[in-house]
Amino acid sequence: MHVQEKNCKSFKDKREDKAKATLISKIPDPAASRFSLATPFVENNLAEMAFSAAHKALVLAMILQVNADALASYTLGKKTCELGAHTLGLSGGTALLSFCYHPIPIVFSKAKDVHVWDPEGRKYLDFLSAYSAVNQGHCHPRILSVLVQQCQQMTLSSRAFYNDKFPIFAKHVTKLFGYEMVLPMNTGAEAVETALKLARKWGYERKGIPTNEGVIISCCGCFHGRTLGAISMSCDNEATRGFGPFLPGQLKVEFGNADALKTIFEVHGNKVAGFLFEPIQGEAGVILPPKGYLQSVRELCSKYNVLMIADEVQTGIARTGKLLACEWEGVRPDVVILGKALGGGVLPVSAVLADKDVMLCIRPGEHGSTFGGNPLASAVAIAALEVVVEEKLAERAVEMGQVFRNQFLDVQNAYPDIIREVRGQGLLNAVELNAKGLSSVSAFDICQQLKERGILAKPTHDTIIRFSPPLTIRLEELSEAAKAFKEVLEHDLPKIRQQLQGALTQQPPDACDRCGQHKYEDQEEQVVSS
Ligand SMILES: Cc1ncc(COP(=O)(O)O)c(C=O)c1O
Repeated sequence: MHVQEKNCKSFKDKREDKAKATLISKIPDPAASRFSLATPFVENNLAEMAFSAAHKALVLAMILQVNADALASYTLGKKTCELGAHTLGLSGGTALLSFCYHPIPIVFSKAKDVHVWDPEGRKYLDFLSAYSAVNQGHCHPRILSVLVQQCQQMTLSSRAFYNDKFPIFAKHVTKLFGYEMVLPMNTGAEAVETALKLARKWGYERKGIPTNEGVIISCCGCFHGRTLGAISMSCDNEATRGFGPFLPGQLKVEFGNADALKTIFEVHGNKVAGFLFEPIQGEAGVILPPKGYLQSVRELCSKYNVLMIADEVQTGIARTGKLLACEWEGVRPDVVILGKALGGGVLPVSAVLADKDVMLCIRPGEHGSTFGGNPLASAVAIAALEVVVEEKLAERAVEMGQVFRNQFLDVQNAYPDIIREVRGQGLLNAVELNAKGLSSVSAFDICQQLKERGILAKPTHDTIIRFSPPLTIRLEELSEAAKAFKEVLEHDLPKIRQQLQGALTQQPPDACDRCGQHKYEDQEEQVVSS
């Protein structure tokens, strides 16, 4: 009986093993981007292989809610799995990460200014800066010292009481940006939500829009964060699909097209509370509007009594070479949304700026956040802003941005069939690759090779690579990036192409569910020969 039971159990184990192994092999490899046949190339490399195995195990672990390390051994053996888990920074633990990101396979374990190090001690140049949240450079000593000092003093009061740091921050930020009031929040998306609520309230109370009929207009291709309100403004299938229904009372208009905005204001103007826009569309791939657009927006918003709401979460705090990107056209929005670098790369700090006639539409008890305006965040944000001003980071962004674009234009001249465009403002730049020239290779593959050469950048959409290093970056570090990029195109690209020969055609991106547009048209033409 005992023997029988044992046999039975081992048979069951074996059956489960087989089932799990089959399931693992069916899990798409996150490192393979949209190219399903990119996997063999990725798995040529042991570290990548371990990464891939660990990733698969983690996904499966989440499905089955069991230990990831144990599961990874089904594919590659325990040793390799541990390597992979270590590479992922997850050694020894049960993986509880959600898979809502598609990271470049590298673990950060230390960072200083423009550099980061992985757990094995390899050093890299950071050309993403946590999506522009680290404008001041990683672990800026002055910001850290304020953080530590304030931590020892007091961290949180909630706004049920006053604290002695928030008023100082409020005075500092309003003076610096030239607004009468500030409403503090934490993440960028929360600040966007706040601005949307503020605009609706203003619309009903000041503009006289009939109750519950207020409209907010946003731009095709925009990105304002991941909350429901923010994605309701968005035009990106990845961000929106499967998350409906969206907020009512929103309309879309083409970004950069002042005539289209005028038309929509003419038709809906009496119900439009706000126009929400990014001065440069960051996540869309660093899309710059035509010159004069922001001025036209200002004129139209004033004429139709619509709040001009600038989302400067990514473009603000000197990233484009001015404290606010709107300053490039001498324009003052009615509402400004700040985030990311406001926290100096240390804490999430965001804020909405507006004058009293707008801000006072929200009264006590109508909006808030437990952590918004906390003394720790306030102290850090003051230091973060002081560093930007005192180290002249805006001026540096102008100068270094020009150098960056010149260097990459040289690379483009050498590889005109591969680089379609180099564009940007200040240190918010993008290199758009030519889908046809790339053949079956993706921008993600290029970024993986850049990583091998010590440069960390991230694709946005399949053919665009954004370069947004800390604003403290120096000339020689910019040159390293241009050199690495050139080497990737010269040495790595031909090899990847060869390895991907026979790769499946990339799925052309669908038209946007919301506005019906094909935003990334060039990719539609990308047909990879097998
Ligand atoms: C323009 C813009 N708005 C809002 C957000 C959302 O910020 P967070 O990720 O802090 O919520 C982002 C983030 O990338 C952004 O780029």
